[in-house]
Amino acid sequence: MFIVLEGIDGTGKSTQSRLLAEWFGQQGREVVTSREPTDGPWGRKLRESASTGRLSAEDELEYFLKDRKQHVDELIQPSLEAGKVVILDRYYFSTMAYQGVRGFDPTEIRRKNETFAPVPDHLFILDLDVDRALDRIGSRGDAANEFERRDALQKCRDIFLSLKDEPFAHVIDSRRDLEEVQEAIRAELA
Ligand code: TYD
Repeated sequence: MFIVLEGIDGTGKSTQSRLLAEWFGQQGREVVTSREPTDGPWGRKLRESASTGRLSAEDELEYFLKDRKQHVDELIQPSLEAGKVVILDRYYFSTMAYQGVRGFDPTEIRRKNETFAPVPDHLFILDLDVDRALDRIGSRGDAANEFERRDALQKCRDIFLSLKDEPFAHVIDSRRDLEEVQEAIRAELA
């Protein structure tokens, strides 16, 4: 089973991914959790760029795709073939959202990704309004940056929500506390 958690920053993806892995573990299932960007060479370059200066939109998109190809080949595909449960914190839906905001067409990004990246069985969109998300990560900047940032996150949220009618998608209201959100995810899976 292939499960992906998505949502804007501050929605609790990494915690939910860990709790979900525990739940499968308790059921005796072998679980692999991972995240994107990965800790591989392309993922590291992408994470570094957060502090050393953002890459051009083209390079950024290219690095995310290279990072993901490697992730699919080396971890995702082999784990699924071995019958493991794979849980990802971010996947190509994040590329649709974040690189979509940088000017690329989300539909085209999706098409490109689906030529090499398997479609998940379940996509959980952890949904939270931008105000709450920013409060949770506790980082508010100066007024000008803040406006730009909020605007970008709002657009990301809208792109994630545009996937809500896909047969594999579940939108999870993430205003609730961690345990309740986890319960909601487990209920959908059960
Ligand atoms: P994030 O999960 O927030 O990393 P960390 O755990 O280090 O905080 O991801 C880092 C950023 O990368 C996040 O702002 C979203 C962005 N991102 C993209 O722009 N495109 C993508 O395809 C992915 C996977 C992530």
